[in-house]
Amino acid sequence: MEKDYILAIDEGTTTARAIIFDHSGKKITTARHPIKQILPNPGWVEHDPNELWNAVQTTIATALIDSGIKPQQIKAIGIANQRETTIVWDKKTGLPIYNAIVWQSRQTSNLANDLIKNGYKEEIHQKTGLIISPYFSATKIRWILNHVEGAQERAEKGELLFGTVNTWLLWKLTDGEAFATDCANASRTMLYNINTLQWDDDLLKLFNIPKAMLPEVKSNSEHFGVTKNYQFYGSEIPITGMTGSQQASLFGQMAFEKGMVKNTYGTGAFAVMNTGDKPALSDNNLLTTIAYDLNGQVKYALEGSVFIAGAALQWLRDDMRLVNSTPETSAAALESASQNEVYVVPAFAGLGAPYWDNKAHGTIFGITRGTTDKDLIKATLQAIAYQTKDIIETMSSDAKMPIEVLKVDGAASANDYLMQFQTDILGIELQRSSELETTSLGVAFLAGLGVGFWKDLDDIKKNYQTGKLYQPKMEDSVRQDLYAGWKDAVEATMAFKH
Ligand code: G3P
Repeated sequence: MEKDYILAIDEGTTTARAIIFDHSGKKITTARHPIKQILPNPGWVEHDPNELWNAVQTTIATALIDSGIKPQQIKAIGIANQRETTIVWDKKTGLPIYNAIVWQSRQTSNLANDLIKNGYKEEIHQKTGLIISPYFSATKIRWILNHVEGAQERAEKGELLFGTVNTWLLWKLTDGEAFATDCANASRTMLYNINTLQWDDDLLKLFNIPKAMLPEVKSNSEHFGVTKNYQFYGSEIPITGMTGSQQASLFGQMAFEKGMVKNTYGTGAFAVMNTGDKPALSDNNLLTTIAYDLNGQVKYALEGSVFIAGAALQWLRDDMRLVNSTPETSAAALESASQNEVYVVPAFAGLGAPYWDNKAHGTIFGITRGTTDKDLIKATLQAIAYQTKDIIETMSSDAKMPIEVLKVDGAASANDYLMQFQTDILGIELQRSSELETTSLGVAFLAGLGVGFWKDLDDIKKNYQTGKLYQPKMEDSVRQDLYAGWKDAVEATMAFKH
């Protein structure tokens, strides 16, 4: 009998990926395709929705060809995606009416500022768990309806649809038959009430967004639709898993218990903590969000995002030209003779949680005549770890729970210097997952659960393999000293507004 597999689609900000997993959770093949970043104005980031779809199709074809796996051997498909990114399209023609506005884009800053000025901060936080920011979908939909001629009227007539990237891909794979999202992605739109688990009528009114535009909200593991045979190489395959990229990696890290935390070191870094059955609201500007819904059992999460993590290493490589490749930074940092007196605050896109300072710029402190390239590299790696510590400490205090272990993944988690400094500065153990593509693995698990490929969470846990562990070796007094220096550096960075 031919073996069955699960196909995970991970449509991210900079690449689309298709990865095929077998029953033991082993990765059979990975196909990648880059995504073009459209930057029409300073601070604006857009994608072409049709390019996203083409990139996904290309990676699926490549994964099938490279592995020799036939389309009909795919038992189910899972979709994970860059969250919040907003697409509005015509229901009849399937044509987007504007580019996808990417989560990073600041083009709706004014709309967000107006909401804050008009006193909506508390209501929006209570209902959605989010802080008011151009990051989330609501202001992006409003922007598209404001800027594309006739769009508001067409939306009111029911001619336009809104979706985040997961919804768009589902709609494409099923050729317009399925129009749905999952609750984890919905919880990032600023239109979804995480307490009632429904689109919120008051917020829809506030943003003047017609309900007819919105997809049906489902759990993370159920029947979303079936591929049209002409969209999937002759096969009709069920799509049974769907979630946002960061919730997917939480699931792929098997953080199923309350208090478990993961941090993904990608372009940015996203720390997410499973907080169990009830939403825990942060007093310190972390986001409350839905971790996952399995069979009607909803788990919530606290999330903190560092905007610049791996991107700081790309800056060292591409702009400072201090290294030829980002992995080289690990060895270079070990050669630095500095006593950790240099601090880099990589606020290239402002500062995310817990500071949320849109106007901050990057800074460097503590340099002397003897400071070298290696010292700067080391300080940049350390900045990623300090920013993560800011979030982990806030998380622990908001959730009123100690954090004893941090599960790590993502490309920069392969950097040994960074991981050792991270465990040292946190004073807790790090567990690096053996599979660094935890986003794809997580959504593959969700899709597999949806078709009985895996029976339940215990069945999935059998596939867990611990990767490398890192233990803190730094003395407490040194840790406190270094971290106090970081706090001073951030404070001075936020004070500098020129
Ligand atoms: O919130 C944005 C986040 O989902 C980024 O996604 O997949 O590009 O790391 P990704």
